[in-house]
Amino acid sequence: MKSIRKIGVLTSGGDAPGMNAAVRAVVRTGLNNGLEVFGIRNGYNGLINGLIEKMDSQSVSDIIQRGGTILKSARSKEFKTPEGRQVAYDNLMIHGIEGLIVIGGDGTFTGANIFGNKFDFPVVGIPGTIDNDLFGTDMTIGYDTALNTVVEAVDKIRDTAYSHNRLFIVEVMGRDAGFIALNAGIAAGAEDILIPEHPILTEELLSHLKNDWRKNKKSGILIVAEGDTSGGAFEIMKQIKSETDYFDIRVTILGHIQRGGAPSCFDRVLASTLGYEAVKALLRGERDVMVGKVHRETKLIPFNKSIKYHKDLNRNTLELVRTLSS
Ligand code: F6P
Repeated sequence: MKSIRKIGVLTSGGDAPGMNAAVRAVVRTGLNNGLEVFGIRNGYNGLINGLIEKMDSQSVSDIIQRGGTILKSARSKEFKTPEGRQVAYDNLMIHGIEGLIVIGGDGTFTGANIFGNKFDFPVVGIPGTIDNDLFGTDMTIGYDTALNTVVEAVDKIRDTAYSHNRLFIVEVMGRDAGFIALNAGIAAGAEDILIPEHPILTEELLSHLKNDWRKNKKSGILIVAEGDTSGGAFEIMKQIKSETDYFDIRVTILGHIQRGGAPSCFDRVLASTLGYEAVKALLRGERDVMVGKVHRETKLIPFNKSIKYHKDLNRNTLELVRTLSS
């Protein structure tokens, strides 16, 4: 096995709080193991456009507490083409880079997997996405911070819901997954939660809400994941209104506020640990794998599994939500 002396690091896909902490950990672990470390800007686009710069310890100082990513991020269309990947590989060769660490979600790892296999190039992934939708890690970097952002926002919305006797439908992020909706819903005491993994009929939702109101409830919160099959918060409001004018409904779509802000303590620790472990894995000769934490243990999981399989979302939790809210 050829030993690695130069590595690159990039962030790709939707930014997530804690990505900077992971970049810092990769750079400093690399330097402390005698490696040269290169930062690649704008995700895979930066590989294609040659935005590759050598980093030192100072280039990652004062970033552990910052949201976003100092390396910037993108969803690269060019990297999806064989031509784009070839240019990316050529640029890595120009800089003598022998291993790559990519921080991102399923799109990032899909690209990494194809690239690593085609060019026989070592790539290790770090799970960074607020959606928490990667198999092989209990939590992805950014998820905990996003949850806290949602809970804080819903607490505020609840004040108005209470004061005006309203039902608020709050839409949260999660394109294909309901992790944010489910756990923020529990923590914010939502009346019900709508997630893609568990479609719910309007009748079922209405009967649950009416039951609550019969018990003298006068306001409430529904949390809807953006990927829910009902069609989003406005569509749900429309469906409820077409059945009954009983509820005074308002919609709030939280949007990108969920992706920003200082990472929580949990995300900083997770990012620092996984950044460190990713470099160690690369140095041991690991490739085509994501580093994750499962039951507090560091685990390596092949890219194709982390993308393909779905982490179990405990459906019984929905029952818990209803029990605790009524
Ligand atoms: O994957 C993270 C995520 O925030 C999803 O929850 C959301 O659907 C998507 O990114 C939004 O992406 P963009 O910022 O590119 O619109």
